[in-house]
Amino acid sequence: MSQPKRYTVTAALIYANGPIHIGHLAGCYLPSDIYVRYLRLKGEDVLFVSGTDEHGVPIMIRGFMEKKSPQEVVDHYYEVIDKSFKDFGIEFDIYSRTSKPVHHQFSSEFFTTLYNKGYFTEKLTEQNYDETAKMFLVDRFIVGTCPHCANPKAYGDQCEKCGSDLSPDELINPHSALSGTPPVKKETTNWFLPLDQMQPQLETYIGKHTEWKTNVGGQCRGWLKQGLHPRAMTRDLNWGVPVPLPNAQGKVMYVWFDAPIGYITASKEWFEQPETRKTLSYGGRPLGNSWEPYWKDADTKLVHFIGKDNIVFHCLIFPAMLMAHEGYVLPDSVPANEFLNLEGDKISTSRNWAIWLHEYLDEMPGKQDELRYVLTATSPETSDSDFTWADYEARVNNELTAVFSNFVHRTMVLTHKNYAGKVPAAEKYTREDLLLLEEIARFPSRIGAAIENYRFREAQQEVMALARLGNKYLSDNEPWKNPDPERVKTILNVSLQVCASLSILCQPFLPFTSEKLRRMLNIGAMNWNNALSTNLLAAGHQLNEPVMLFAKVDPALLKNQLAKLDVIRKELEEKRKAEDAAQQAREKGSTAAPAAAIKDIEPAKAETTFDAFSQMDIRIGTITAAERVPKSDKLLKLTVDTGLDTRTVLSGIAKFFAPENIIGQQVTILVNLAPRKMMGVESQGMILMAENSAGELSFVVPGTGNVNNGSTVR
Ligand code: 2FM
Ligand code: ZN
Repeated sequence: MSQPKRYTVTAALIYANGPIHIGHLAGCYLPSDIYVRYLRLKGEDVLFVSGTDEHGVPIMIRGFMEKKSPQEVVDHYYEVIDKSFKDFGIEFDIYSRTSKPVHHQFSSEFFTTLYNKGYFTEKLTEQNYDETAKMFLVDRFIVGTCPHCANPKAYGDQCEKCGSDLSPDELINPHSALSGTPPVKKETTNWFLPLDQMQPQLETYIGKHTEWKTNVGGQCRGWLKQGLHPRAMTRDLNWGVPVPLPNAQGKVMYVWFDAPIGYITASKEWFEQPETRKTLSYGGRPLGNSWEPYWKDADTKLVHFIGKDNIVFHCLIFPAMLMAHEGYVLPDSVPANEFLNLEGDKISTSRNWAIWLHEYLDEMPGKQDELRYVLTATSPETSDSDFTWADYEARVNNELTAVFSNFVHRTMVLTHKNYAGKVPAAEKYTREDLLLLEEIARFPSRIGAAIENYRFREAQQEVMALARLGNKYLSDNEPWKNPDPERVKTILNVSLQVCASLSILCQPFLPFTSEKLRRMLNIGAMNWNNALSTNLLAAGHQLNEPVMLFAKVDPALLKNQLAKLDVIRKELEEKRKAEDAAQQAREKGSTAAPAAAIKDIEPAKAETTFDAFSQMDIRIGTITAAERVPKSDKLLKLTVDTGLDTRTVLSGIAKFFAPENIIGQQVTILVNLAPRKMMGVESQGMILMAENSAGELSFVVPGTGNVNNGSTVR
């Protein structure tokens, strides 16, 4: 599109069913934040929206696992996710939630418009139904034996053991995860969007966007080639936006119907509900007075930042909904990223193979820009990429510290030493000085062009190239050795101009560093084109005291990170071995426990008496809250509902379990152990754990039956 008048930029509404990790950040949040920061610095009119997707099966599953209501799940994770984004400087204009009444109302209106226009087709289909729980079952809630690998705990949509995609009908001995009873087929009506009939319009739309990234365009063309089918926009569930039709009791909208509408609701909220407006540190808030031009005017550029698993929904289904509604602009660009791996393995929430943002910040406080930098440098822009701690260390040490920070620091220290921190006047430029000054002026457009084309890795490399030029210039000219005072002034003046340009050009990528640098240089907010100037700092301008922008990675912290991943890797390996052994035992028809994959079993203890044992009051309880104990890397402070009471227990399991992952976990607890104070907290009991010979811990939990809190263990 020709020069847009305004931009509406969205970043995927992530499911509020867990905390966020580096894969999420690298996937769409960092790229969108860089893009928007750049546009704001250019003075463009931008609205940047995101939020949490709080409906759908992923939320229900988490609630089921944590024994919480879906509302409790989303209330908890919204806060966790919102905080991580704030901590990492992702500056949305608004970060909203799809469970808000304003969204329910707006998406209902949208649905009704499509219904009134006759867009939906009504279809009667047979779905799986749990007669005991009295509800329809999504595929995930049906479990049974995998027909491919005999895993007895396969889900109706997938077997997590062999990775096969399944349908519930393929499972052997299928039963409901809610009641344990076999599902029955029951007829139900749902409303379908006839994507097949809309295929010609969608083909024209996709056909116009030959400039889209190959991964995005390729997926869309693949779907169109296969031929689109009508898709149900309603579901028989009790969690979601209720379908606003009189004959749709107990039905909600398909989560992929209401979620993208959430972008529009959030935009509306920003304009219509003043309390949702944030104060941005770099200004540049949307310039308009109403949300409508940002979604309806042809001169608006709508850009969706997403991960590759969301492509079909943003490029075909949401545009189809917008076309059907009429009056909306269509997405102009959908720069989807591929996936980020971690140390060679796919990042996985369920396997805990991830670097969680909140844990990273706890363990590496103040190092947001280091992570932002490394993730952008390895961004999965065109293919999957890999995050490794070795790469993190190399980039922080050799690029951010040795080049960027070193250059700025040497320039600042010399200026303070020689001129009491006042910018010296440039006396007489050499050819080399002039070449560098000319070069500075070329960077803003070069970096800008890369950003505008969603090539963020390249854009960041250019920023680092400018820092490298400055660093080399300083080293080549050695002002600390030069006996000519006039020459020293010029060298430092030129170096300071490079520092000033860097403070602007690095802002989209390294916002915390940019702010520190501008504070050091004693300059206020700037715009992108100021970086073109080669005289940003006038002679005589007073600078503030120098501070180090980056330091080498502390080897102890790095060791800690690697050790953490090692523990998880070993746990996963043990789990896999145990599952394989159990599988083999099942295949042999043996009921004997599988030979443990563990070698050194601890020797048996001396004999005890029944009396001694029966003095122990052991109960089943549930962890209702968990947090780390400050200054301890071993202890977690748990709140446990024992059925008798709710009490605090300290447990040395912090190396094995993240607090947020064990809320809702059933445990076995010794409740009559004498209270004991540790790290200033009184522990009122002991959680029983199974420890394998590798020293790894697992919870001891009832294997079968309905074992409520307070049940005794004997
Ligand atoms: O993949 C996800 O986490 C989805 N909740 C993304 C939704 S993006 C948009 F449509 F809201
Ligand atoms: Zn399987």
